[in-house]
Amino acid sequence: MHSADTRAVRGRFLDITQPVSQPENIASNIRYIEDGLLLCTAGKITWFGAWNDVNPELLEGITVTHYPDQLITPGFIDTHIHYPQTEMMGAYGEQLLNWLNQYTFPTEIKFKDQAYAHEIADFFVNELIKNGTTTALVFCTVHPESVDALFEVAETKNMRLIAGKVMMDRHAPEELCDTAISSYEESKQLIEKWHERGRALYAITPRFAPTSSHEQLHLAGQLKQEFPTVYVHTHLSENRDEIAWVKSLFPNHTGYLDVYHQYGLTGERSVFAHCVHLDEHEWQCMHDTDSAIAFCPTSNLFLGSGLFPLSKAWQHGVKVGLGTDVGAGTSFSQLQTLGEAYKVQQLQGQQLSAYEAFYHATLGGAKSLHLDHCLGNFNVGKEADFIVIDLKATPLQQLRQRRATNIEESLFALFTLGDDRNIVATYIHGENVYTA
Ligand code: GUN
Ligand code: ZN
Repeated sequence: MHSADTRAVRGRFLDITQPVSQPENIASNIRYIEDGLLLCTAGKITWFGAWNDVNPELLEGITVTHYPDQLITPGFIDTHIHYPQTEMMGAYGEQLLNWLNQYTFPTEIKFKDQAYAHEIADFFVNELIKNGTTTALVFCTVHPESVDALFEVAETKNMRLIAGKVMMDRHAPEELCDTAISSYEESKQLIEKWHERGRALYAITPRFAPTSSHEQLHLAGQLKQEFPTVYVHTHLSENRDEIAWVKSLFPNHTGYLDVYHQYGLTGERSVFAHCVHLDEHEWQCMHDTDSAIAFCPTSNLFLGSGLFPLSKAWQHGVKVGLGTDVGAGTSFSQLQTLGEAYKVQQLQGQQLSAYEAFYHATLGGAKSLHLDHCLGNFNVGKEADFIVIDLKATPLQQLRQRRATNIEESLFALFTLGDDRNIVATYIHGENVYTA
């Protein structure tokens, strides 16, 4: 017997059965079911398998939603994105530090106004969902109101979102600066209000080392100690001028990552965006502390930051998720982001296989966020966040997909040519929240 909120979806399913330590091991963990069924109750997967293996009694009294021609995958996971920067995507002509001063800070000042923050948060969450992204790790602004606005909107969709207030007490306009103490107190209040409320999770969010005083970083570390299950989310080693600046501001540290490490901000729930220019010690520290990287290819190309060495992350056993990094990133679409990730590897003489790309956007992302026990594939017991993809959303894609002889080739064409037009439906916690 099923309760009234059981949902049943039939179609062609693709996922990855378990996390891997090497990319070569992904293919053997690909699970492709050409005609399958997924059941979920109260937002959790209760049954998953081949249609032919379904006992008819299982479906008594249940309406099955059938997507005969589509591909159903776990929802995409965006491990680094800024919701307040949605409106300033495509800001011309600058690299990181000037881009922040010229475009980003003036935009973020607007989020003091809660009504405005709400309007943009609403737009942002809809944009995520329409691109098939069901979980994201999100930067807000320095204003606590901006965090409330985002979590309030996400709550209406029952979305698993991780977010936090920016902590920033120097090297930014006065209107955007908090103080070490106020950032500690406001973050603490937000943690108490939002962390583990429904599906919401909180991230302590110092913007990056240059915009935090020693005292602020110290208090960020203290917060992490007081609330060990919250996340830490910041930027690291994105741009060469940024790295030189950190060295001059923190001369007593051995490097950029050492600043975060010494303040207790590394760890299994710490996510560092970019990590384009890490040195060997830093790779080792990322591994030893089980910290994760958000790889943000469109942003790294757009701001001219550099080419992320993905193979080094595998070599050092460091977790990697995919980040759009909107607004330095140029797309909300994880499909487009994977297309650029492939090119970033090509420029370094490396390949990114379709299966590996798919891993980073789903189960690998979940692992980076320390959420692979509840997200990232269709294992029974996991949360039912999934998407329905049309592989042939445009005439060009129809033509191209005719040449694909297996699912791996189809996926690769999807990552090269796809975008939000390919997302037919998005389900969050078992509910259909978007249909194209
Ligand atoms: N480093 C510090 N702040 C930012 C930001 O907003 N975007 C990016 N890409 N890098 C940063
Ligand atoms: Zn960023």
